[in-house]
Amino acid sequence: MAARLIDGRAHAARLRETVRARVEAIRAAGQRAPALAVVLVGAEPASEVYVRSKTRACAEAGITALEHRLPESTPEADLLDLVVRLNADPGVDGILVQLPLPPHMDAGAVIAAIDPAKDVDGFHPENAGRLASGLAGFVPCTPLGCLRLIEDTIGRIAGLDALVIGRSTIVGRPMASLLLNRSATVTIAHSQTRNLAALARRADILVAAVGRPEMVRGDWIRPGACVIDVGINRRTLPDGRSRLVGDVAFAEAAEVAGAITPVPGGVGPMTIACLLENTVRAAERTP
Ligand code: GUN
Repeated sequence: MAARLIDGRAHAARLRETVRARVEAIRAAGQRAPALAVVLVGAEPASEVYVRSKTRACAEAGITALEHRLPESTPEADLLDLVVRLNADPGVDGILVQLPLPPHMDAGAVIAAIDPAKDVDGFHPENAGRLASGLAGFVPCTPLGCLRLIEDTIGRIAGLDALVIGRSTIVGRPMASLLLNRSATVTIAHSQTRNLAALARRADILVAAVGRPEMVRGDWIRPGACVIDVGINRRTLPDGRSRLVGDVAFAEAAEVAGAITPVPGGVGPMTIACLLENTVRAAERTP
């Protein structure tokens, strides 16, 4: 393997330590601990796992996690009422509504109801617009974590060619804005893109966020490129067991890349660390 392995767990541990120190400074100034309201509707197993990891990480950083669990059948109006109450609650710094929401709810309407100053997920259209305009605001945690990994690995981004595969509002679009705001030359690829492999071969920075197991092959990678794999896909092996794989064929890509994130242990741990950082930022703004 030629590539340097980007150790997301180690980066995340360092970031969590700085968050913990900022929480301690807030407490030392006589203020209450930062508080994150985590709202989970229904009992989707993946969401349960995410919410549990988020609340555990909050506790370790000294952040109060306030869990609100609502049944799957909750009317959308009741969820909107809860969001309005959390917006007005001076004891709440950040609000996170775990996605996906049940099909009878309009996730866009729920996200739009969150106070942008408490929107630690960075999904509110105001924060999305701020990022796209190059203004300060809350940035979605996964692309923010990717940016941190890229900057810590290669340093200066300005002038480099970046390819973001995937155009979701949670990862692809904000990732492209973050790289553009750092003066990379950014291409966004998606399901209609032609000649994806040729585009990939030009990229100094390649971020794969499509949710297709091992779609990016080794011969797509520019030698020396920085490869960030956001995919978390479960692949069933011939013997019936399963393992997690990313959107990048890791073994092949690692022969060519300059640096690459593993799955698991790459981007994933950074997402939660960035959520903690966004929450402490929300608290620091509160007088
Ligand atoms: N579901 C999957 N990823 C996320 C995330 O980053 N935030 C929220 N709120 N829900 C998610």
